[in-house]
Amino acid sequence: MEYYQIAIDGPSGSGKSTLAKGVANKLGILYLDTGAMYRACGLCALNNKIDTKDEEKIRKMMETIRIDITHEDGSQHVWLDGKDVSTDIRLPGVSVAASDVSAIPCVREAMVDLQRKISEGKNVVLDGRDIGSKVFPNAKYKFFLVAAAEERARRRLLEMKEKGATDITFEEVLRDIQYRDHQDTTRASSPLVKVEDAIEIDTTSISIEETLDTLLSYIKE
Ligand code: DC
Repeated sequence: MEYYQIAIDGPSGSGKSTLAKGVANKLGILYLDTGAMYRACGLCALNNKIDTKDEEKIRKMMETIRIDITHEDGSQHVWLDGKDVSTDIRLPGVSVAASDVSAIPCVREAMVDLQRKISEGKNVVLDGRDIGSKVFPNAKYKFFLVAAAEERARRRLLEMKEKGATDITFEEVLRDIQYRDHQDTTRASSPLVKVEDAIEIDTTSISIEETLDTLLSYIKE
């Protein structure tokens, strides 16, 4: 039996994870949040007080790190060295650490291998930065989401406030997004790029529900 992949790439806050979850629910296939894996690597560095830009130290860290992904009741759990870190990887500071370590080739190689291994023998929708360009260049459908940085910061702030964050400002979230945009698009190893065969969707002024309908209409075709 032939299995297929759906790739959803784009910058942070463009709506990837909500849309990927929606597609997975609608089609009854697995959803893999690949950003969560880089977040676990970033968290590991922070926990061990390792400079997230020190390639040599991160390489050493990657020799012993253990990341596992499980799915329970439709939600993904990320385990770092045997501990469920699904909540910790969303803490402020982890985003930037994840972006830093994700620029290091040995981190990318390990995570790409893990993503391909988890996807084996399944139909799967993955969201990330390099799914259509590197992880699954032959994915059946490739989407590239974009949205204005201010709108993405507004959405991220709302999400953080809903989860109880009180001491974070719009400017801080916007700065974090702009830092990551720059780093994720300019790194040498698998930078965030729209591949030629990806369908680009600008989500700045359309709702998630409308975007999901658009995505599903392409998938049905
Ligand atoms: O999607 P996210 O915001 O949770 O991702 C966190 C960081 O991980 C992001 O700034 C870049 C990196 N990342 C990546 O390099 N490749 C992926 N496929 C997914 C995420």
